[in-house]
Amino acid sequence: MRRLIYISSTRTTFTAGDLEEILRISRRNNAAVGVTGLLVAGGRRFLQVLEGAEGAIDAVFERIKQDPRHHAVVVLSRTDIAAPSFGEWSMGYARGGAVRGDATLPETVAQLLAPVTDPSLRGYFEGFAQVHAAA
Ligand SMILES: Cc1cc2nc3c(=O)[nH]c(=O)nc-3n(C[C@H](O)[C@H](O)[C@H](O)COP(=O)(O)O)c2cc1C
Repeated sequence: MRRLIYISSTRTTFTAGDLEEILRISRRNNAAVGVTGLLVAGGRRFLQVLEGAEGAIDAVFERIKQDPRHHAVVVLSRTDIAAPSFGEWSMGYARGGAVRGDATLPETVAQLLAPVTDPSLRGYFEGFAQVHAAA
């Protein structure tokens, strides 16, 4: 099983509605090929982890890279893993800003990371949430 972590920027600022639509499509597509993961939006930057069979990860990531809304897609880590980190989620999600007025981005991300034991995976997301806390 493969884990891929990437960071990217987008050309435009997505509205909450745009993000909901990306999530809806991602969950549908990922569930169909057994891919799970976590997407965190901080302003115009995204951090995403995708886990699943190698062929499925390659296919999903190829589509993401070719999406014209993305640019500067940079792979941070590509590793083989024994078991997935996120159970049944097709794509967990958090974003900065006022959408979740009751919790900061680091707090929301900490909740999403609750099932994750891998310190390196936790580190990427905790760091990103800190840096983009105000986004
Ligand atoms: C930040 C971001 C994350 C995305 N993550 C996924 C994903 O996990 N899975 C996926 O299938 N598409 C994802 N997409 C959407 C793809 O780029 C592409 O639009 C979509 O896969 C096309 O699906 P369709 O051919 O079923 O319309 C993401 C897009 C953005 C901007």
